[in-house]
Amino acid sequence: MFETLKPQPADKILALMQMYRDDPRADKIDLGVGVYKNAEGVTPVMRAIKAAEHKLWEEQTSKSYVGLAGDPAYSDAMIKLILGDAVARENIAAAATPGGTGAVRQAFELIKMANPKARVFVSDPTWPNHVSILKYVGIEAVVYRYFDRDTRGVNFDGMMEDLKGAQKGDVVLLHGCCHNPTGANLNEVQWKEVIALLNERGLIPMIDIAYQGFGDGLEEDALGVRLVASSCPETLIAASCSKNFGIYRERTGLLMAVSNDAGAQALNQGTLAFLNRQNYSFPPDHGARLVTMILNDDALRADWAAELEEVRLGMLGLRQSLADELQRLTGSDRFSFIAQHRGMFSLLGTTPELVEKMRVDNGIYMVGDSRLNIAGLNAQTVPVLAKAIVDAGV
Ligand code: LMR
Repeated sequence: MFETLKPQPADKILALMQMYRDDPRADKIDLGVGVYKNAEGVTPVMRAIKAAEHKLWEEQTSKSYVGLAGDPAYSDAMIKLILGDAVARENIAAAATPGGTGAVRQAFELIKMANPKARVFVSDPTWPNHVSILKYVGIEAVVYRYFDRDTRGVNFDGMMEDLKGAQKGDVVLLHGCCHNPTGANLNEVQWKEVIALLNERGLIPMIDIAYQGFGDGLEEDALGVRLVASSCPETLIAASCSKNFGIYRERTGLLMAVSNDAGAQALNQGTLAFLNRQNYSFPPDHGARLVTMILNDDALRADWAAELEEVRLGMLGLRQSLADELQRLTGSDRFSFIAQHRGMFSLLGTTPELVEKMRVDNGIYMVGDSRLNIAGLNAQTVPVLAKAIVDAGV
């Protein structure tokens, strides 16, 4: 049987991670995978996570199974963090998943189950794994215009025009904040226009929110998802705790199915639990438990939010200094979009050839589509990158 297997295409982001590790150059710079790094190049365990782990070690008396949808207290805490009071709790079904990717996968499975004919509209570009999982699950992905390669902002007119090609029941995948890979985001007016279009055409929004707190702040970054969930009849939300709690390898995510028909909640909740059972049975608990402890404890929560804010402001500072340095070197505002983008990433909007040239000549690793991880920079490497961008002729 095994002889029938075919080599699968490597995930571009993960392949880049390996190439970086294999590069012997001491001055190489990793701007690839979306993992936060501090100025020392370390992905730290957040203080509140350490404290919660300590407490958990002392207090936990059993590691027996919790429930197919995970601990309801985790769902409650995450729903509050993401949706605030935008939607009544009884209108939301939720299940813990292995990371945000697990939530994305389960959401796609649910879509297929509920409406095998549904297509999923994805932004051009989007996180490559969205497209890859859709293909794997057997759902047609349709691309809508999103990134304007001239302004490096959102091509909103193009986006709206393309979404008009969606049919009733199709799903529109949106990034809640900190768009990956571009860093270009919708503003409040645009969110409202998208919502009007979704409702007019009977389209189902699915929101992937993996970077809450990395853009404009915890509350601000939730604006879009709250507007959508409170204004559309049905919304799917895939959330990740990997980045904002720094617990990447713990695989901590949540899938929510929001319906303005409270009567649908029990069926939706049962479906999410069923999907978990089919795919991996019980979701991982450790990361979810830490997140719950932090969100439900005033002191831990305040410390976590303060550390997250330091991370966010640090990235904003790096954005500004990179934009300033490029301004200085080029004498133009061509790169001011870097300071305007939000989140961990910016898409430079250059060719794979120039990205490759910077890797070969300067040991700078960014994803081939020219996505750079801002958190991979520090005060020393900002000028190095700026010079490499100019030298390469970006
Ligand atoms: C990324 O986009 O780099 C992250 O979401 C990590 C991943 O799994 O690709």
